[in-house]
Amino acid sequence: MLNKEQKIVIGSDHGGYHLKNALIEYLLRQGYEIIDVGAYNDEASDYPDFARMVAERIIKGEAQRGIMICGSGVGASVAANKFRGIRASVCHDTYSARQGVEDDNMNVLCLGARIIGEYLAKEIVTAFLNAEFKREDRYKRRLKKIEEFERQWTKKN
Ligand code: RB5
Repeated sequence: MLNKEQKIVIGSDHGGYHLKNALIEYLLRQGYEIIDVGAYNDEASDYPDFARMVAERIIKGEAQRGIMICGSGVGASVAANKFRGIRASVCHDTYSARQGVEDDNMNVLCLGARIIGEYLAKEIVTAFLNAEFKREDRYKRRLKKIEEFERQWTKKN
């Protein structure tokens, strides 16, 4: 569970801009601290630029969880997962959003604004933020294997 002193970084491309605004309003009303890295309008933009800013804020410890929105959520998750220490996934149901954190320690939730509506998106975000990594040995073991992929195949910057 994300406590309210911890920060959420949120980003989108043009496709996710309107849903991002709706989610920011929803989260601010609940007392969460938000870092909005853009896009700041719905003119065509590139989702990797925003996925990068979301990922970097988490890696630097300036935010603990991230939300990244594009048209489908796919580009957002492909881009965010290139960053060491980022565990991102598209989740368009509450089960995956909760279990993705509990079992897989997902730290970036990706949403497709062209796929789901605002009300479902809010429920998914709530499931994501309320979930906590279970820290059981089998989950830690699996994540260690993924960290090993990162060590072997990505260069540390
Ligand atoms: C932009 O048109 C669209 O390709 C992008 O938002 C996203 O859906 C990519 O996965």
